[in-house]
Amino acid sequence: MLSWLAHEKEAGNHLELCECHYPATACLVPICSLHGAAVTTVEGIGSIQTRIHPVQERLAKCHGTQCGFCSPGMVMSIYTLLRNHPEPTPEQITEAIGGNLCRCTGYRPIVESGKTFCARMAEDPNKKRLTFQGKKMTWITPVTLNDLLELKVNFPKAPLVMGNTTLGVTIGAGYSLAQLNDALHFIVSDQPKEKTKTFRALLKHLRTLAGAQIRNLATLGGHVVSRPDFSDLNPILAAGNAIINLTFKEGERQIPLNGPFLERAPEADLKSEEIVSSVYIPYSTQWHFVSGLRLAQRQENAFAIVNAGMSVKFEDGTNTIKDLQMFYGSVGPTVVSASRTCRQLIGRQQWDDQMLSDACRLVLEEIYIPPTAEGGMVEYRRALIISLLFKFYLKVRRGLNKMDPQKFPDIPEKFMSALNDFPIETPQGLQMFQVGG
Ligand SMILES: Cc1cc2nc3c(=O)[nH]c(=O)nc-3n(C[C@H](O)[C@H](O)[C@H](O)COP(=O)(O)OP(=O)(O)OC[C@H]3O[C@@H](n4cnc5c(N)ncnc54)[C@H](O)[C@@H]3O)c2cc1C
Ligand code: FES
Repeated sequence: MLSWLAHEKEAGNHLELCECHYPATACLVPICSLHGAAVTTVEGIGSIQTRIHPVQERLAKCHGTQCGFCSPGMVMSIYTLLRNHPEPTPEQITEAIGGNLCRCTGYRPIVESGKTFCARMAEDPNKKRLTFQGKKMTWITPVTLNDLLELKVNFPKAPLVMGNTTLGVTIGAGYSLAQLNDALHFIVSDQPKEKTKTFRALLKHLRTLAGAQIRNLATLGGHVVSRPDFSDLNPILAAGNAIINLTFKEGERQIPLNGPFLERAPEADLKSEEIVSSVYIPYSTQWHFVSGLRLAQRQENAFAIVNAGMSVKFEDGTNTIKDLQMFYGSVGPTVVSASRTCRQLIGRQQWDDQMLSDACRLVLEEIYIPPTAEGGMVEYRRALIISLLFKFYLKVRRGLNKMDPQKFPDIPEKFMSALNDFPIETPQGLQMFQVGG
């Protein structure tokens, strides 16, 4: 666990420094980056030579450890969560250990041990709202969306901290993916739904991208620049028309993410003197749909077998395609754009089964995965290219129907389940004990 003295907050008449704690994967942290940080390892919180920590004790008592290989990591993930949230929700426990793999226990007893710290929270969900009363201002941290909405009613003039620009939002490249997640949550809670489709698509993938340890270390700038073929965020950012702001000694320049840069065209690479300073993500509009789609072997901490970011913009009030963008990950050396397919479909006056059928044919002609491709499963990945497109098609049809049910028919009932995301559920189970005679 890494701890920094960070934000200054006003408490009474004086400013206080508060500590922030992050779980981190040791092998990814260069020692020089730790200047100013306190490092706590599992031995630092307790051991059988001194005294074991309640997290360790409860993990053992709940049978959350078998071979023990994963146990130190599990302990540190739960310990860090408790340092930041002394009374977490069961969902926070599940999320905190999303980046830890256990081969033996099936996770349920590990989650159960973490849940023993949630008890009081369950009794009084409002208890966690934080209020800091200063001379000139009051800072209130709501705990749930409903809590926030209530505060908006009670304090209509109080500003929401984060995301108040008119056209879109610029997010610093140094933001960790965990901070990006928090920032996007603020924006989504503050803005009308129609403006935040790109942000919501990003949030969905940020929940499952690697685990908390990685999301605390990885930055938005590093993610965008490294352009991995399996990137979960770049396809959505590209489909949402995000722009990268570059800074160098003599000035600044902007490049769109959905162009040659993403395709790794050599002439579009960053120059050696340039850094990414921020990423601008525009708001979506009413007749504009943006989605992120992915399929992986498990939801958290697994690279996508295929993922995609797609967007379609219609002429206002119609289903005439004005703009269409499709980006696929894990199908080539970098994120791949189905730009030829999109160009051929722009101008179509229907978003219907015929359009879908043409789109499927075109996209399979355009995106070629060679039989020797790294990762194999070529036929399966080709099937996923189509499946994700089909899902997007259904999502958009549903969206159009919601906007104008008279004009745009809903999707057949039998396809409804395709729209639901698999929930990330807290493992549950029952343990039976038999007393021997
Ligand atoms: C275990 C694990 C699981 C993962 N799972 C997923 C996953 O499921 N989905 C997914 O999409 N990704 C996944 N990733 C990838 C992860 O998202 C990227 O590694 C991460 O975003 C890179 O960010 P970073 O800050 O660590 O970059 P770094 O590794 O620090 O940098 C990457 C490159 O970008 C350059 N760079 C960094 N910042 C800037 C800047 N501001 N300006 C210019 N150049 C810069 C660096 O010099 C370097 O060349 C995973 C990674 C790990 C380790
Ligand atoms: S107890 Fe063996 S890997 Fe988790």
